Amino acid sequence: MIRYQTKLGAFYKGEVKTLLSNREFNVYRNKVNLIFTSPPFPLNRKKKYGNLQGSEYSEWFSNLAPLFSDFLTDDGSIVIEMGNSWEPRKPVMSTLALRSLLAFLDMGNLYLCQQFIWYNPAKLPSPAQWVNIERIRVKDSFTHIWWMSKTPFPKANNKNVLEEYSKSMKNLLKTKKYNAGKRPSEHVIGSKSFLKNNNGAIPSNVLISTNTNSSTNYLNYCRDNNLVPHPARMPINIPNFFINLLTSPGDIVMDTFAGSNTTGQSSEELNRRWISIETNMDYILGSKGRFSEIKEFE
Ligand SMILES: C[S@@+](CC[C@H](N)C(=O)[O-])C[C@H]1O[C@@H](n2cnc3c(N)ncnc32)[C@H](O)[C@@H]1O
Repeated sequence: MIRYQTKLGAFYKGEVKTLLSNREFNVYRNKVNLIFTSPPFPLNRKKKYGNLQGSEYSEWFSNLAPLFSDFLTDDGSIVIEMGNSWEPRKPVMSTLALRSLLAFLDMGNLYLCQQFIWYNPAKLPSPAQWVNIERIRVKDSFTHIWWMSKTPFPKANNKNVLEEYSKSMKNLLKTKKYNAGKRPSEHVIGSKSFLKNNNGAIPSNVLISTNTNSSTNYLNYCRDNNLVPHPARMPINIPNFFINLLTSPGDIVMDTFAGSNTTGQSSEELNRRWISIETNMDYILGSKGRFSEIKEFE
């Protein structure tokens, strides 16, 4: 089952439900602080890694929720990234991704802590037929990220994901000069608490990242070893954000559809322990290029 280990983590080959139901995984029950994953999307055409379709997908996906819950600590979180899908041959969106996420919440008896959007400005125009050819829709350029948990108060700290202040905010903190009184919104600025330097701005729930950024070591390793890079890799700053927001060093992060193991790399770099699961051996082999020291298993 284990294919390789690093200082902090282990990559397992296998089908997610089969592996999580295996006795060997019992040690992780109630121990995982964050399940961060990007499952195969419900597509209306088959992708390389064999996605299910329609209600079959939503049933398969929502049945994972109780299983995931069993592995989560009581104050742990589940973060799932899922793209949009479109109906075949019609310029209309499929609601399957949303219905599947709602069914997942219900089946796992989970709370929706917050919805995020990952906006990718570099995403190629799609669906091409309706966007580029007929020009009757605009580019579909975001995916859904749902943060869920067993309690309304899972472990979380937004001080761990602060962003650099804007130029104007830096200026304001320096000069302490601002227009008091009524804003155009009728809001009256009374308190001066916003003049306090909190070491950064609180980020919003719109995460902006292209997936063309930095995975040079991974890509070089794949090229040198004649392996095809994973076609749906995530930029590392997306798992970085949630791992920092929802876990502490030493905590356990699990990715049940790990692909090229972006989550494992992020966890290792942020000093968290990790467990990754993936069915496709080529993706596991390629992911070794993300780590400088590994111990391999047959
Ligand atoms: C969207 S990709 C994940 C990509 C990953 N986040 C990355 O950055 O490389 C989903 C992955 O789930 C794997 N997969 C699909 N069904 C699976 C299953 N039943 N059990 C385990 N892995 C599965 C696919 O092979 C694919 O690599």
